[in-house]
Amino acid sequence: MTIQERLKEYQQKKKAILATNFYNLETLQGILQAASKCNVPVILQLTRSSIEYMGLKEAVALARNSLESFQVEGYIHLDHGDSYELAKKCLEQGFDSVMIDASNESFEKNVEITNSVVEEAAKYGANIEAELGYIAKLGQEQDGLYTTVDEASEFVKQTGINALAIAIGSAHGFYKIEPNLNIERLKEIHAAVDTILVLHGSSGIPDAMLQDAIRNGITKVNLATEIKNTFMKALKQTLLNTDEIDLRKVFPKATSQVVDLLIDKYKTVSL
Ligand code: 13P
Ligand code: ZN
Repeated sequence: MTIQERLKEYQQKKKAILATNFYNLETLQGILQAASKCNVPVILQLTRSSIEYMGLKEAVALARNSLESFQVEGYIHLDHGDSYELAKKCLEQGFDSVMIDASNESFEKNVEITNSVVEEAAKYGANIEAELGYIAKLGQEQDGLYTTVDEASEFVKQTGINALAIAIGSAHGFYKIEPNLNIERLKEIHAAVDTILVLHGSSGIPDAMLQDAIRNGITKVNLATEIKNTFMKALKQTLLNTDEIDLRKVFPKATSQVVDLLIDKYKTVSL
């Protein structure tokens, strides 16, 4: 099954697929152990910085081989692709899906950049996600502005993308103020476009609010910060209490915390 078909099926069932970022072997294994236990499909996300850290070919081979070993249905996705060139490189390496994020550009420029990637992705039958509106990135302030229904309709019409990341009150990283998703705006956008709607910045959003968003049209839920945070906190805690230098004994303790986190998240998004 393609990622487009799987997302459509989830959209119809009013469920969501969790799209998780991985950073190394351990976080990948944590994601897959949890997915295997919960018997759910996964979207494995790589950002430019994770690709630069692990190496593109290495990260893809690791993800593909691990999916096979864990017998988990999964798709590889470029998260927040910031250029046509990066998206093209990922498509050449067999990514199932790419995001082109030109949301900081004007509407017209965003359409133009997105369309260049849409054309490239079509050669591979790959899924394509774009972003419209301002979803605060790490270190940026939230501005309280949401994606409008008219803009969303027009953007989908002019690009033909499969998935759209919308600004409805979420933000990347830790929340400084309590998140409060604009479910009314989400409902309106969902009624206006049949594109898959994506929620970025899901870390720190309470379970009930996430479920409300899923019931009202979100089909892909992106999670990164909580994975990093859980892994690093557990690692720090373990290192404080041991002189063990065999990293193969130390890392699994942190991995198992990631497994617990993700089992909870998979349960939440599967409703
Ligand atoms: P968080 O930083 O809230 O985990 O958001 C992840 C995300 O949107 C990745 O694209
Ligand atoms: Zn994001």
